[in-house]
Amino acid sequence: MKIACLGGGPAGLYFAISMKLRDAGHDITVFERNRPDDTFGWGVVFSDETFDNITANDPASAAAIRGHFAYWDDIAVHYRGERIVSSGHGFSGIGRKKLLMLLQERARQLGVDLRFQAEIADAGALAKDYDVVIAADGLNSRTRAQFADYFKPAIDTRKNKFVWLGTQQKFDDAFTFIFEETEHGWIWAHAYQFDADTATFIVECAEATWQKAGFGALSQEENCRACEKIFAKYLGGHRLMSNATHIRGSAWLSFPRVLCETWSHRNIVLMGDAAATAHFSIGSGTKLAMESAVAMADYLHSEPSLEAAFAKYEDARRTEVLRLQSAARNSLEWFEDVERYLHLDPVQFNYSLLTRSQRISHENLRLRDKSWLEGAEAWFQRLAGAADNTVRRPMFAPFKLRGMTLKNRVVVSPMAQYKAVDGCPTDWHLVHYGERAKGGAGLVFIEMTCVSPEGRITPGCTGLYAPAHEAAWQRIVDFVHAETDAKICCQLGHSGAKGSTQLGWEEMDAPLHSGNWPLLSASATAWSERNQRARAMDRADMERVRDQFVASAKMADRAGFDMLELHCAHGYLLSSFITPLTNLRSDEYGGSLQNRMRYPLEIFHAVRAVWPDEKPISVRISANDWVGAGGIEPRDAVEIGRMLQDAGVDICDVSAGQTSIEAKPVYGRMFQRPFSDRIRNETGMATMAVGNIFEPDHVNSILMAGRADLVCLARPHLADPYWTLHAAAKFGDRGESWPLPYHPGRDQLYRISQSSEPAANRV
Ligand SMILES: Cc1cc2nc3c(=O)[nH]c(=O)nc-3n(C[C@H](O)[C@H](O)[C@H](O)COP(=O)(O)OP(=O)(O)OC[C@H]3O[C@@H](n4cnc5c(N)ncnc54)[C@H](O)[C@@H]3O)c2cc1C
Ligand SMILES: Cc1cc2nc3c(=O)[nH]c(=O)nc-3n(C[C@H](O)[C@H](O)[C@H](O)COP(=O)(O)O)c2cc1C
Repeated sequence: MKIACLGGGPAGLYFAISMKLRDAGHDITVFERNRPDDTFGWGVVFSDETFDNITANDPASAAAIRGHFAYWDDIAVHYRGERIVSSGHGFSGIGRKKLLMLLQERARQLGVDLRFQAEIADAGALAKDYDVVIAADGLNSRTRAQFADYFKPAIDTRKNKFVWLGTQQKFDDAFTFIFEETEHGWIWAHAYQFDADTATFIVECAEATWQKAGFGALSQEENCRACEKIFAKYLGGHRLMSNATHIRGSAWLSFPRVLCETWSHRNIVLMGDAAATAHFSIGSGTKLAMESAVAMADYLHSEPSLEAAFAKYEDARRTEVLRLQSAARNSLEWFEDVERYLHLDPVQFNYSLLTRSQRISHENLRLRDKSWLEGAEAWFQRLAGAADNTVRRPMFAPFKLRGMTLKNRVVVSPMAQYKAVDGCPTDWHLVHYGERAKGGAGLVFIEMTCVSPEGRITPGCTGLYAPAHEAAWQRIVDFVHAETDAKICCQLGHSGAKGSTQLGWEEMDAPLHSGNWPLLSASATAWSERNQRARAMDRADMERVRDQFVASAKMADRAGFDMLELHCAHGYLLSSFITPLTNLRSDEYGGSLQNRMRYPLEIFHAVRAVWPDEKPISVRISANDWVGAGGIEPRDAVEIGRMLQDAGVDICDVSAGQTSIEAKPVYGRMFQRPFSDRIRNETGMATMAVGNIFEPDHVNSILMAGRADLVCLARPHLADPYWTLHAAAKFGDRGESWPLPYHPGRDQLYRISQSSEPAANRV
């Protein structure tokens, strides 16, 4: 094959090498606009795992590269006068220039024609003379722009500013993050050694800080001097250096996140940064480029046509690229929002930094550095008020709200059972909630329990509007208190325009076949075309419903509930006031967010007035309507959190969605956790996180990083009422109490969980 590589960066060179290794007969030319040794940038990082792939592809170049590696295992974080070090991270670094020289040498050895100072202006013209053109022309790929109609690139220029500098100060004992507060705002550095004398020193800050500091107006020299001053205490008198001669001005950049809809057009294929970028803070751009090169070389040999090879390349690489880009996005967003976390204790700040990309889990950190993690766990337990020297996972830390102390941080999230008869809970509820309370969670929520018959969602929903309901709930609460050490919370709600619908396992949210009752909502809206239109509440309705909430709260107190939650989420009555999608009012209850919050807060104040002082109240909200700018967005949720906090709400239960049939939620692991994180860390209010959180590891990492105070699991508790006790057994943690009659089962489970014998050999 006659092949042109447009660009002599890691992607272009490594592709050329990989092709030659598979068939020495290929005729390959690399066109590079620069001279062989004039590259910008300083060092690049590889993780241990990355290098195994490269070694398998070409042991010779891998050995040459490895010979110039600087290795380090530790990550050090300088923050608020402390240097916190954790270990076991396994990275290596090499100078970008050295890497390219080694790849050039290897390519030459294999017979690749390397042409330097050969700028290609038109990839289309080049493509006429070659069988394949590999467009590896980097971040600002001209080829990508030339064929933008085909590649359909989406370029997202991110908020922070950064500059890639070098220094001869040694950072050879750890990958080092330094956070410094200046008069203009926080500025931080990512520093790592890459050869005996030189370290990379990337300086980054928010754009507002960059503007205030006037970095944009400085020359590269002046900029180095300014950064030296900021980081003087870490530089030991060494200078900062810039080699970005290819960039005009101060050399500060904004990171562009590149995605392309397709990677190939005719015989031209994008590779490396030209196709997709991954933020430098996860150090994977070079890995992506080199691994894509290997994959393309493989498919050009295994597939019958160019078309098939390109299709296979995209298919195989896109998932990996998206996985890395997703981790990179989490990481870059963490740095963009870092000011949100700068109030955290250094231990928690460090944990938050290490787990920012979501690639490193709590237990993975234990494998990396057990003693550091145990120190952090001890810190968490101490803060939670546990006995001195307690080292347990964060999920097993106590939590206090007013006079209520939870034994641990796991919550059974409210889940409608649709098994009530005329609003009255039955034996189903006794057994269901009794089992969950026995299963080890610190707090068990009951389902949305309605303040009136017409406030029910379905005919199977529970209520607290008749003496029989109070008595039935009291029986359940008494059981929980007598037989377990769990606390139990009553969620009160009113269905609003989403009422009078079928049971959850019938047709969800669809009207009843017969016996529908009239509905109330903030405005005269309907959930869908099929649902009836609700009547907009007038003042008399508002007072009546408020009094119903108060009456139900009094019943909940008499029934013995430890805590109360107002359901202001998921499109039900109180939620219909908060979201602009269903609140179309023109009085003082509509319009601004403050007005839209007025009625839910009126209810809260009325309920708070009759709810005992020592018992907490939470409010569940939908922090995102998932419809974009027309609805509630996470930044509005922060404002809602602030209003709840000012009103005296003890904890915000941060859910999302179910407010509109137009919603387009972005699901994923722990997908609503960022909303809780944001409310908690921007307002200082306690929060609960919920939504596709299903592993103990998820719970521990959310808590330890300060992204929530409590973690709610719904569906996992339907599948396993004993979720918490099972998690404790898996970890060999004996601190959770089991019901006395179950102790033999407990002992067997611990033995099995801790045994290293294969199941078949156990007696
Ligand atoms: C601050 C910073 C830090 C980084 N740190 C790391 C890290 O630690 N680890 C890591 O893996 N990655 C890191 N990266 C990313 C990494 O540098 C890139 O992902 C990687 O270089 C991509 O390789 P590439 O071959 O696709 O592109 P490039 O390395 O950009 O190579 C493209 C080449 O094409 C040439 N070229 C462009 N246009 C033309 C043309 N028209 N004609 C001829 N030649 C042309 C360019 O001169 C260049 O040599 C970092 C990036 C930045 C900005
Ligand atoms: C069957 C079922 C019923 C639910 N009923 C309620 C409810 O009554 N009140 C409420 O606030 N959320 C309710 N939810 C939402 C859950 O509390 C939770 O927010 C959601 O299921 C996401 O958590 P998960 O991923 O752990 O299931 C219900 C969820 C399920 C699966």
